[in-house]
Amino acid sequence: MIRVDVALGARSYPIDIADGAIDRAGTLLAPFAKRGRLVIVTDQNVAQYHLPRLEKAICGAGIATQVEVLPPGEGTKSWAQLAGLTDRLLAHGVERGEHVVALGGGVIGDLVGFAASILKRGCGFVQVPTTLLAQVDSSVGGKTAINSPAGKNLIGAFHQPSYVLIDPTTLDTLPRRELGAGYAEVAKYGLIDDERFFAWCEANGAKLIAGEAAPRIEAIRHSVAAKARIVAADERETTDLRALLNLGHTFGHALEADTGFSDRLLHGEAVAAGMALAFRYSARIGLCPAEDAARVSRHLAAVGLPNGLAAAGVSASGAELVGHMAHDKKMAGGRLPFLLARGIGKTFVDKQVELADVAAFLDEERASAL
Ligand code: NAD
Ligand code: GLY
Repeated sequence: MIRVDVALGARSYPIDIADGAIDRAGTLLAPFAKRGRLVIVTDQNVAQYHLPRLEKAICGAGIATQVEVLPPGEGTKSWAQLAGLTDRLLAHGVERGEHVVALGGGVIGDLVGFAASILKRGCGFVQVPTTLLAQVDSSVGGKTAINSPAGKNLIGAFHQPSYVLIDPTTLDTLPRRELGAGYAEVAKYGLIDDERFFAWCEANGAKLIAGEAAPRIEAIRHSVAAKARIVAADERETTDLRALLNLGHTFGHALEADTGFSDRLLHGEAVAAGMALAFRYSARIGLCPAEDAARVSRHLAAVGLPNGLAAAGVSASGAELVGHMAHDKKMAGGRLPFLLARGIGKTFVDKQVELADVAAFLDEERASAL
């Protein structure tokens, strides 16, 4: 078992990672079954593949389970699902000292975390993430949220889990496209501040996506350790440190908005294209060596991820895409902080970027791809 700690004083928690860890969940989750039972929340896809294993392990330790199965997909991060879930958790008699188990991807983790943050003014929760994105990013750090018609993740809270249990073998059933989307967040940790890890990704990314166990577990370990370090230093994103985790997200958000936040472009795919764009924009304004930007694009393409507007299926104009960015919740005083790079592993927050210049860059990108 590999253990990584998130050091947050009284809100500290461990992350355990091991192939087959779900089969040991009875022992590992026992400390969180305060009244001899655990309520598990999952979605229909995950329930089909992994709920029986988890329930068998928990029940084998003499702990009772109650299960809530929700529809899969981003639409589940809604007021309606939150209301239904909190009503049912109350009906189950969940008390403040108890823990709810979130078994699933980022959608289930974000919804259950938010429900736990408000149930009886805050109960505990445990993350058992089953997508690569959730295992390397969303299950760690305590950002929880639902979506609003005004935008994604606009209603939420910081609420840290008490424990994260990662079993990489759950990824064996994850569709290849979802695995690739999660991999974008793995490569992100290299691009942010760790060139050596990006070089590791170049050597091992394709093997990981092909399902090889050793690179998969190493990528998860390295990613959660990087995220734990950043979250411990800047839990609530009050300095620019945690904001570095948003590399590629501002460009990516515009691409997601243009494709209707739909299956046409998954979040991680948009982040991949957004990271390539952030590096090319950085090169265009003389911040970053052109070879570094080209290296980022080459690696993303090599693992089957989009690395620009055309590859992401986006043909909107620069003005239209910047229009989407202007709705970002980080917009302040008419400016948007951009994650730019002085090279691979050398990203920083730039608050002086002119949106008109970004629009011109995106028009150049569009013209060069036609
Ligand atoms: P998801 O939870 O929708 O899962 C993707 C799909 O895979 C779903 O259809 C799901 O049912 C299915 N699935 C999950 N595990 C599976 C498995 N092991 N086998 C087969 N199918 C499986 O999506 P996601 O990519 O995990 O998460 C995206 C969400 O995460 C977004 O809402 C995003 O806003 C959020 N997010 C949150 C944070 C954070 O810090 N809280 C960070 C990044 C993203
Ligand atoms: N995924 C960005 C963050 O957790 O801050």
